[in-house]
Amino acid sequence: MATPRFTSGLREGPPVAQRLMRATFGFLSVVAACSNGPPPTGNDNCPSVSESCPSPPPSWMKDVQPLIQGYCATCHRPGGTGQTNDLTTYANVYDQRTEVLLQVYTCKMPLSPLSEAQRETIVAWVECAAPNN
Ligand code: HEC
Repeated sequence: MATPRFTSGLREGPPVAQRLMRATFGFLSVVAACSNGPPPTGNDNCPSVSESCPSPPPSWMKDVQPLIQGYCATCHRPGGTGQTNDLTTYANVYDQRTEVLLQVYTCKMPLSPLSEAQRETIVAWVECAAPNN
């Protein structure tokens, strides 16, 4: 499952490319092992975002929860098309944080794209161990 978009934009710097490939394939293999839904549609235009935990970490209440509510829970709620992955509570999002990170990092979810800054916020929050802050 080659994803050339991760390397095509990087002229030099194999360490970065390798890091991205490792991260991506690492996530993919974790999800492939325990995924049970159809793979969501991918997005070819997916700029890479930082995978580190900033200080201070993004706030669940102020930064992350509004994004999940506005862009994800519209489908990922009881009765919604994505109800098998309910994302309406902190506990549910925390439990699925690795899957959420993968989906957002690779631009597979949501189907209407988030901005780079919005993706970075969600990815960074999960990298910070998904605090309830
Ligand atoms: C337009 C509806 C819709 C939106 C918006 C949406 N999803 Fe989904 N998502 C789905 C559907 C449908 C599935 C397939 C199975 C299911 O969860 O019911 C899915 C699957 C998933 C999965 C499981 C993937 C797997 O491999 O099993 C995750 C995690 C996920 N979405 C996260 C998100 C996140 C995070 C957002 C917001 C950034 C989001 N989704 C926005 C409809 C949506």
